[in-house]
Amino acid sequence: MGCGPGSISIDLASRVPPGSVLAVDAEPSQVKLGDERAKELGISNIRLMVGNADSFYCGESNFELVFSHALFEHLSDPEKTLKHLRNYLRPGGLIAVRSQDWGGFVLHPETSAVSRALETYQAIQSNYGGDVHCGRKLGMYLRSDSRPDPGDISSSLSSSSVTGISSQLEDNSSQSSTAKANLSAVERFRSSRIFSRSVAVG
Ligand SMILES: C[S@@+](CC[C@H](N)C(=O)[O-])C[C@H]1O[C@@H](n2cnc3c(N)ncnc32)[C@H](O)[C@@H]1O
Repeated sequence: MGCGPGSISIDLASRVPPGSVLAVDAEPSQVKLGDERAKELGISNIRLMVGNADSFYCGESNFELVFSHALFEHLSDPEKTLKHLRNYLRPGGLIAVRSQDWGGFVLHPETSAVSRALETYQAIQSNYGGDVHCGRKLGMYLRSDSRPDPGDISSSLSSSSVTGISSQLEDNSSQSSTAKANLSAVERFRSSRIFSRSVAVG
């Protein structure tokens, strides 16, 4: 759910035959990218569709797993979305969600330009109705949505954990390729719809 250009969903699909994957995103351009990528790779057990996480309808309701990465922090009502997603699970099915929490973001060395960029990113996310501290709340959302079926303990949604990722630039050549990738991302961002919103929030 919130599959973006489908990188995770396509990888999942490649691992689950004869099972299949339905990948959903609210943004048609992302779904199109994912569709093209799946075709390029010859992955045919995936269907990509445009839909909103808290209201989409796909005509199926027997999924073993609902998975979402980096979506819930963008939602204004994550609990409503969880309730909707749960309707698609078969008894004993699993929901797995992962979200960033900006409260745990530590950067060194920190420059004023990078700090400002991070503050602006968080302002944009909040401005859209998202929650920059969503990560720490996922367990609470899952527990409050838990409706265990009698005799079916695995449908109880109650597990959460916090993980950290640390990265470091190794040498000048990797710094240079990271800088190039970042510049190219900035160019793409300049032509995106959220660029003007970003300017509006500072
Ligand atoms: C940060 S991207 C994550 C993409 C992908 N899951 C990943 O981890 O690479 C967030 C995605 O969620 C989508 N999204 C945001 N709000 C959504 C909603 N209400 N319903 C469905 N998708 C949504 C966006 O269009 C975007 O593609």
